[in-house]
Parts: sequence; C-alpha cells; structure tokens
Amino acid sequence: MSDDNKNKKPLRSQEWYGKLDKDGFIHRSWMKNQGLPDHSFDGRPIIGICNSWSELTPCNAHLRELAEYVKRGVWEAGGVPLEFPVMSLGETQMKPTAMLFRNLMSMDVEESIRAYGMDGVVLLGGCDKTTPAQLMGACSVDLPAIVVSSGPMLNGKYRGQDIGSGTDVWKFSEAVRGGKMSLDEFMRAESGMSRSRGTCMTMGTASTMSCLTEALGMSLPENGTLPAVDARRQALAHLTGMRIVEMVKEDLKPSDILTKSAFENAIRANAAIGGSTNAVVHLLAIAGRVGVELTLDDWDRIGAEIPCLVDLMPSGRFLMEDFHYAGGFPALIQRLQHEFDMQAMTVAGSSLSDVTKEAECFNDEVIRPLDKPLREKAGIAVLKGNLCPQGAIIKPSAATPALLQHTGKAVVFENIEDYKARIDTPELDVDKDSILVLKGCGPKGYPGMPEVGNMALPSKLLEQGITDMVRISDARMSGTAFGTVVLHVAPEATMGGPLALVKNGDEITLDLAGRGLHLHISDEEMASRQAAWQAEDSDYQRGYAKLYIDHVMQADSGADLDFLVGKSGSKVSRESH
Ligand code: FES
Repeated sequence: MSDDNKNKKPLRSQEWYGKLDKDGFIHRSWMKNQGLPDHSFDGRPIIGICNSWSELTPCNAHLRELAEYVKRGVWEAGGVPLEFPVMSLGETQMKPTAMLFRNLMSMDVEESIRAYGMDGVVLLGGCDKTTPAQLMGACSVDLPAIVVSSGPMLNGKYRGQDIGSGTDVWKFSEAVRGGKMSLDEFMRAESGMSRSRGTCMTMGTASTMSCLTEALGMSLPENGTLPAVDARRQALAHLTGMRIVEMVKEDLKPSDILTKSAFENAIRANAAIGGSTNAVVHLLAIAGRVGVELTLDDWDRIGAEIPCLVDLMPSGRFLMEDFHYAGGFPALIQRLQHEFDMQAMTVAGSSLSDVTKEAECFNDEVIRPLDKPLREKAGIAVLKGNLCPQGAIIKPSAATPALLQHTGKAVVFENIEDYKARIDTPELDVDKDSILVLKGCGPKGYPGMPEVGNMALPSKLLEQGITDMVRISDARMSGTAFGTVVLHVAPEATMGGPLALVKNGDEITLDLAGRGLHLHISDEEMASRQAAWQAEDSDYQRGYAKLYIDHVMQADSGADLDFLVGKSGSKVSRESH
C-alpha cells in the first residue's frame, strides 16, 4: 500500500482488492488480465462507469467514446475507472414500451453496483428511461454517484427550418393523415430530424430528465443541455471523472443530495423548462428509492405557480441546442433563483447557488425574462374526481386553453387495438366536443404504461381543421407531445378503476380551475357498473412481464415495483468463494 493511502479509512473496494489471502488473490489476479498494475489495488478509489451504451439505443450509441473521457478524469484524480454495461432502454425502438423495462434496468444497475468492488459510480446514460433507471438503482445502493448524460442532438433540419424530435413527427403524421403533406415529403423529413448523435433535442422526456438531474444536484452544471457533439461535453465527462474520486473521499452520497428540497427544486424546474409529464412518475419513483416522502399533490402544490421561461418545443419554438447557447440550465436557475432553494447541495460539493452564480443569459427569446414568460403558470396540474380517485395529471402549458374547462360526451375505446381499428372509420360517432377515452394502457394493463395518451384525432375531424380535443387515459404521453391530454388516471382501468366503467355517451367534465375530472353518473349507477365489472385474465403468465404486472404500483406512486421501494445499501457480507 502506498504511503498516501495507508492511513485513510479503508475503502469499500478494499474488501475485494485489499486482502492478502485467497479471496484477494482471486479478485486482483483476474482483473490484472486487463493490464492493471499492482498499485491499482493499493487503496485508491475504484470508480465504476455504469454505461447504457447500445447500438439498439441510438441516443446512447456514442457513450463508449464518452466513457473514455470519464476515465481520463478518474485516472487524473488518482482513481481507477472500470466501465461496465447495463441494460439499455431505447425509447423509440423497444416494444411494447421502454417503460415496461425501467424498473428492470434499475435492478440491473442496483445489483451491478452492489455486487462489484467499487467505491463510487458515474452513471453514463441518456434517454427517457435510462436516466431515471440509473438514478433509481444508484439510490438503492447509496454509494457516491454522479450523472453524465448523452447530451441532445443538434437541431433537426427540414426545408431550411428547424424541426424537433417527436414534436414534428406528430405534426407531420397528422398532416399526412389530413392530406396536407405527401408521403415523399414525410420520408424526407425523417432523415433531417435525427442528424447527429445524442438524445431527442426537444424538451421531451430525455432532455427533461437530464435538466432535472441538474436541478436535483446529481450532475455538474451544464450537463442537462450541452449538445452531444460539443467537445465541451467530453470535457464535462473528464471533469465528472475527476469529481467522483473526490466525492468518494468526501463520502458524498445520493442520500446527502436528494433531499425533499432537491425534489422540490426539480418540480419547479420542470415547470420552468416546460418539461415532460413523464417526470412525474420518474421523480416519484426516485424519491421512493432514496426514502423521501414525495406525493403527486406536491407537483401541483409546488410547481403550479411557476412560470415557464424556456421557449422550447413542444410548448414553444426552440430546441436544446438553442437553450444551451442561451446560457443553458444554469442561466435559467439564475433567472428564477427566488423560486428555488439555492442552498441545496449538489455533487460539486457546493450549493446550487455556488454552481450557477456565474451563469448568464445570452438570448431572451429562448430563456424568457420574468416579465415575458412563455406561460405564466406552467406546472403540472393534478386532477381528482370520481373518474380518478387516486389522481390524474395534465400539462396545461401544452393544452388548448379553451378546452381546459370542458364538458363533453365520451367516445370510449376499450384498448389500444380498439382505438386503432375504429378511430378513422366514417361511422365513429364523434365531434369536436367529444372526449376521447382510452382504457387498458396503465402500468398493469398494457403492460408498462405506454406513451399513447396523446392519441391522434379522428381523421374526419382533422380534415375539418380540428387540431385538439380532450383526451383521457391511464397511459402516459411522450414528452415531445402536446394537446389537452389527461394522463396517468389512477387507479387504471385494468384494475377496475372508474375509468373502466365509462361508457359511450357518458358526460365528462374536465375542470382545470377546480382541478376536477368528473364522470356524470350517479353513485348508484357507478356502484352497479362496478359490481358488473370483471377483470380479464392476463396474457402474461411468465417471466419479467408477469413479475412486473404482479408488483407494479400505480402511476401516483411512480409505477415502481412494490418490493423495490427503499434501499438495501452497499454492504455485501459474503465472499464469492
Ligand atoms: Fe432516446 Fe429520445 S429516443 S432520447
């Protein structure tokens, strides 16, 4: 052991690599086949790099290269970096939905960190579900952890205009269905949309979660917005590698950073960036792992009055590249510092105030001034009522204001196949005031709670120029989507929640001001429909899907598996031989 390391408290990794016996021999000897010299095991921090690299997750396909920059930083700071793969969740590629696997990936992350001899971990990921899954897993172990995200793609381009991931897909596909765009043009737009490495560059769920990671204090400043191809992201990865070594020495863990106040900051940040509704289930799940009491109602209580200052699609005009050049997330925090707990701790070892104090805004069009917000009150609204006793959510900033107080007749689809089969049929009894109701898309029902809540409108209404209707479901919606869409209805229809009981022609009222969602039938009628309702047998009788269906909690609890809530720490008491 070197003189530098011999007087310090032994590191966790020394339980693997510090023993002068058979077990130590085994752990060290096999690692040495990678060319690691003896002094790698002399008590210097072993840093895991938890990498969700995959060519099946295109927004993570460059992460092996980025990991090399993390390694440079770890070596420079006197640590030993060891990269390891974890499950990767490609949002646009996985069926039936990547969300089905968020909790599985979190288990992979948790068990990998705990089972191997590391002292701290860099979470290298980026895409809608990989960021929350990595944070959930790391919180359940609670070793020092820090995030480096993939970074967003460059702005999409089509016919000289900027186009945004997801957001313009929905617009283009409705234009094709409404006869306003040719298929040839549609295909041309596809190539211009994703033209560099990185994550979706709208303020979709991936960008939301990387910005909220910064708001939570779990990454260094600018991690949320720096474009994937910008050399400064590589430098950020290098600095992050250096910083995790210090965090191990300081024993600065997720539980020291992820306090209730940190989550409240993230809820405020979600409003200020016009962030995704998916952040609701992800933050609730992360809080559950770290032991913070966060509720669905906190979202409305804390976030509802916060203005949206960031003018990004899908709520606004610009894209992540513009946000970064305008000063990025630190500039936004500076502008809204009176709303945030600026003393909240961050992975930098200093407060949010310290890490953002030099930030400046360089473009008031992208990060609006306080007196010219994109939306004055931009938080996520939580609805309650006899249609959603455990709650439902809506993002008013992405909705049509005139529809936020609305009563209409339900047009009911029993499941996604029913919706797809009938939505464009001429005989569908629907008009612009109808409310589209979709069942069977909750956590247990689909399974996995897919992003289908922003169901496309009937083509016969699109042809009349109708662009929005009230839509209600137990599903989620893509963070890149928009519309007057009520989501996450709990309990879900598959569990016999009131959503299961809605029939064609029932009147429903969406009352944003009163935070209500009401089905206009009598209590007696509700009870009689409930008594007649029968659960359907699940198609999933084995494997992970069965485990998921048996244990997934409802959206208002973050849709984690019930037995994963909380943490087990980092201690492993038994040897492997
Ligand atoms: Fe991965 Fe959008 S598909 S970030």
